[in-house]
Amino acid sequence: MDGMAHEITLTVNGEPVAERVDARKTLVDFLREDLGLTGSHVGCEHGVCGACTVRLDGVIVRGCLTLAVQCDGATVETIEGLSDSGAIADLQEAFERRNALQCGYCTPAMLLTAQELLSAGGMPDRATIREHLSGNVCRCTGYHAIVDAVEAVAQARAGAIK
Ligand code: FES
Ligand code: FES
Repeated sequence: MDGMAHEITLTVNGEPVAERVDARKTLVDFLREDLGLTGSHVGCEHGVCGACTVRLDGVIVRGCLTLAVQCDGATVETIEGLSDSGAIADLQEAFERRNALQCGYCTPAMLLTAQELLSAGGMPDRATIREHLSGNVCRCTGYHAIVDAVEAVAQARAGAIK
């Protein structure tokens, strides 16, 4: 450790946060270790698996490839924030109902990524859903049930809007 700590201020799930962080600390480690937000997972640590996905200024990013210091002044949202707001309650329910999660390791990131797609509006088809989720690795489900769940929510939301 070279002890290079930086003060950062940011908004996390709607709350102001000010912390000193090591210059090399990743965003996902910062969220998990410093803020106790352990819903974002760490898998490969190399940008491959997507388990560390969080939202930075409204856009999903890999938390293992983003440094905490890069988030100074930014707005970060995690699965905890999305969950608490109720914004993805329908997605969470569909994942459970359709067995789209088994070990659950990939699930928070899948939900965030699916929500990004669905927030864009319209009714994405299965190929589009699959493509959008392709950066998120799931070792358990074979993806079929995940696509089913996201498709069902896309249809339900489209119907609900009218
Ligand atoms: S832990 Fe970040 S992509 Fe795998
Ligand atoms: S449910 Fe286990 S990795 Fe996706």
